[in-house]
Amino acid sequence: MPVPKAELHLHIEGTLEPELAFGLAARNGLTLPWTGTEALREAYRFQDLQSFLDLYYALMAVLRTEQDFEDLADAYLARAAAQGVRHAEIFFDPQAHLARGVAMDTVVDGLWRALGRSEERHGVSTRLIMCFLRDESAASALATLEAARPHLDRITGVGLDSAEVGHPPSKFREVYQAAAALGLRRVAHAGEEGPPEYITEALDVLGVERVDHGLRCVEDPALVRRLVRERIPLTVCPLSNVRLRVVDTLADHPLPAMLDAGLMCTVNSDDPAYLALFSYSYGQVACSPV
Ligand code: ADE
Ligand code: ZN
Repeated sequence: MPVPKAELHLHIEGTLEPELAFGLAARNGLTLPWTGTEALREAYRFQDLQSFLDLYYALMAVLRTEQDFEDLADAYLARAAAQGVRHAEIFFDPQAHLARGVAMDTVVDGLWRALGRSEERHGVSTRLIMCFLRDESAASALATLEAARPHLDRITGVGLDSAEVGHPPSKFREVYQAAAALGLRRVAHAGEEGPPEYITEALDVLGVERVDHGLRCVEDPALVRRLVRERIPLTVCPLSNVRLRVVDTLADHPLPAMLDAGLMCTVNSDDPAYLALFSYSYGQVACSPV
């Protein structure tokens, strides 16, 4: 029996396995620029967050219909349940779909067809968190929140993701204020590649109650003391951090030191289809399949 787990940092688009990507491409009459699933997996050698995001957004082209989003979420929930996940708080990136002409209704209704029956079918309770792309404008984030208004009964909170450096949390002050006024919970990626100051801004300017990643807090002892004192949860993703070269090897990851410091860290998967360490090695540490 696998250990029971909660998954608090999971991008549903990051659960798109190559086999499903090719299946959806065929169903939608699309041709992918890879010869097959093995060739696609070969492309999963990332230098940094941006090199991953380029592929992550490109492969989303296969997600077009409600059925596609349902199949994506249902496949993830089945795998998660088999690994002992009992509760999953799931990010999605509507702007990446709206930009391709896929409507908010298609995305949320499709995801909900899987999430709405997840407890009964998989024994996994779920929450849906809508992320704003921080490398898009603040106006685009506000328009996305507006587009999501008919769906807010199914969306628990808002988050902030995509390319971090150069896009500080303060850029999104207004949309987070608007989200709070609508009763939405607030989280944000901060301190993955960006500096510790972004973590402070996420707390003070956006009012987040949880920080996604938060890894670079370790560079600022006063910030670590604050996070401990205020019991701010950090959703840490160690395997993602290795694959996106935030740390060199798993052995170099600061998670043990973070726990020793009293930080409230949870361990999460981020984008498991792309970033799980399937017999892949960096530096000294080879990691077995997860
Ligand atoms: N979107 C999907 N995965 C992400 C990550 N690890 N960091 C920022 N944005 C993301
Ligand atoms: Zn993430």
